[in-house]
Amino acid sequence: METIDSIKRLEERMARLKGQGKEIGLVPTMGALHEGHLSLIRRARDENDVVVLSIFVNPIQFNRKDDYLSYPRNQDRDKALCFREGVDFLFVPKVEEMYQEGFSTYVEVEGLTDRLCGASRPGHFRGVTTVVTKLFNIVRPDRAYFGQKDFQQTVVIKRMVRDLNLNVEVLTLPTIREADGLALSSRNQLLRQGERQVASALYRSLLEARELFAFGIRDSRRIIQQMHDVLHKAGIFRIDYITLVDLESLEELEGARAGAVVALAAWVGNVRLIDNMTLEEVTSQLKARHKLGVNV
Ligand code: PAJ
Repeated sequence: METIDSIKRLEERMARLKGQGKEIGLVPTMGALHEGHLSLIRRARDENDVVVLSIFVNPIQFNRKDDYLSYPRNQDRDKALCFREGVDFLFVPKVEEMYQEGFSTYVEVEGLTDRLCGASRPGHFRGVTTVVTKLFNIVRPDRAYFGQKDFQQTVVIKRMVRDLNLNVEVLTLPTIREADGLALSSRNQLLRQGERQVASALYRSLLEARELFAFGIRDSRRIIQQMHDVLHKAGIFRIDYITLVDLESLEELEGARAGAVVALAAWVGNVRLIDNMTLEEVTSQLKARHKLGVNV
């Protein structure tokens, strides 16, 4: 594994490998790697000749300075994990090189970015699409890997790739969870002990939605209300949004339907967490469990 911080050097390496006909997979991250990130690496490893993982805590996608400063960083550990997982190039660009003096060009996906997380984090997605475009231009990957955990991010990036004719295949991989259902996130490290347990209520509220849907409830408002109740019972009151949206347009749905996504963002202590789940038609298993009183 080679660790590279220079944009030019990485570009040279990529050009040479492309010239040899190698296929390149990119996993963009902000570091503090966990099993969610590792699942992306493993898939990239399976499908490409060369795997590049970038670690860059991207200042322009943080709308709060304290959030940027407190974002977990642990490069030595990340490096060891990347090595173990067979990453070929670890790309760790410097802020000064990514955003040189006078930087003033941004990529913005309209519409999709003013709802859900975009509503409470102004400028966030503009920062994401700008940095991802830069990474695509530097690495020129054949494939890039993202997690369903950041569902809106994947929808926005896919739209950007389509709209700007970027020559890369974007793949979305399932959310990896802890045993109690909490979606893995670098931010989980910032939760205090009691908060960590409380945080699993996010997942339980999503299961509640899925269960209601399985039992034929289609009224979004009713589903959302029940989800609020689950969070409130757990002591979570600062809720950014709970919503049911169309998988592609991200438009809010009044009536739930299979394939819709239920998504939420809520604060546990000082940490803002997000999660989502797709509603499915299946459910004999769910129903059977329910009858037995098993907690799914
Ligand atoms: P980061 O939060 O580090 O996440 C990097 C990638 O890992 C994203 O595609 C994210 O969706 C995925 N991921 C995070 N948690 C996951 C989980 N529990 N299961 C599966 N995948 C998971 O997302 C970003 O960084 C940044 O916005 C970035 C795209 C790198 C641009 O700066």
